Amino acid sequence: MIEKDLNQIFQTRIDADEKIEARDWMPEKYRQTLIRQISQHAHSEVVGMLPEGNWITRAPSLRRKVALLAKVQDEAGHGLYLYSAAETLGAKRSDLLQQLIDGTAKYSSIFNYPTLTWADIGAIGWLVDGAAIMNQVMLCRTSYGPYARAMVRICKEESFHQRQGYEIMIALSQGSEEQKAMAQDALNRWWWPSLMMFGPNDDESKHTAQSMAWRIKRKTNDELRQAFVDASVPQAEYLGLTIPDEYLKWNEERGHYDFGPIDWDEFWQVVKGYGPCNAERIAARRKSQEEGKWVQEAAMAYARKRKQRSQDQKTKVA
Ligand SMILES: [Fe+2]
Ligand SMILES: [Fe+2]
Repeated sequence: MIEKDLNQIFQTRIDADEKIEARDWMPEKYRQTLIRQISQHAHSEVVGMLPEGNWITRAPSLRRKVALLAKVQDEAGHGLYLYSAAETLGAKRSDLLQQLIDGTAKYSSIFNYPTLTWADIGAIGWLVDGAAIMNQVMLCRTSYGPYARAMVRICKEESFHQRQGYEIMIALSQGSEEQKAMAQDALNRWWWPSLMMFGPNDDESKHTAQSMAWRIKRKTNDELRQAFVDASVPQAEYLGLTIPDEYLKWNEERGHYDFGPIDWDEFWQVVKGYGPCNAERIAARRKSQEEGKWVQEAAMAYARKRKQRSQDQKTKVA
């Protein structure tokens, strides 16, 4: 069959909301777009463990420590599901990890900001995981089957992350003056980077139109950002905290909140590697890759031995 026909059949299947599976024919650009998106997503999960891991030993109580440990472990799991999903498209996990430590692969720019106080753990759960959920709920219906299925489980865990963060924010905002100030300071620092997580405005986003046509994305960056703002404002009000945006105002006509302009220069600076913690994050990943090599080698040797043993047993039975 010629490529044009295959393309047409492919698009008809997408338009009928059928899932595309690993062995189905797909345009090369669809495959490459997905590998890029899924691997960036996987890297974000893994790098996202670092700013929070920073607080595991300093969590204010055993209960908080247990919840944070569970959350950080979940993020590792998300990374694993997603690297596996990328592998179904023919990508090699070792190449993807190499791109991350070479600094040639992107990951969510939000994780290049530092976690200065315990309130940051609250703000990250509430806002960063909250923004991730907006994005990921849509991805449960993405057109590529293995990605969509991975996202279903991930979303369940993300909602736990969001709640544990919001609960930290409730405790702090109902606490002493200092605790309330700490919560406000965390909101001030994480609010704008959280809005940037949805990516550039629609008219600036070079991949959006094609990704929407292929139903990889089901909502645009600006639609998701607006939904996030609309959901977060009443949550901030409940906490008695102020969102750091003088233009934030309910717009009766639109039925949405209006909000101020995003500092895209800051966003691009961080994306290009000049954020406060970019170098530190990559260095941490590189160190863990190098120091964890022996674990990988031991696991591979064990897998080989087990395979050999079961083969030996089969030959014995035969
Ligand atoms: Fe996650
Ligand atoms: Fe999460």
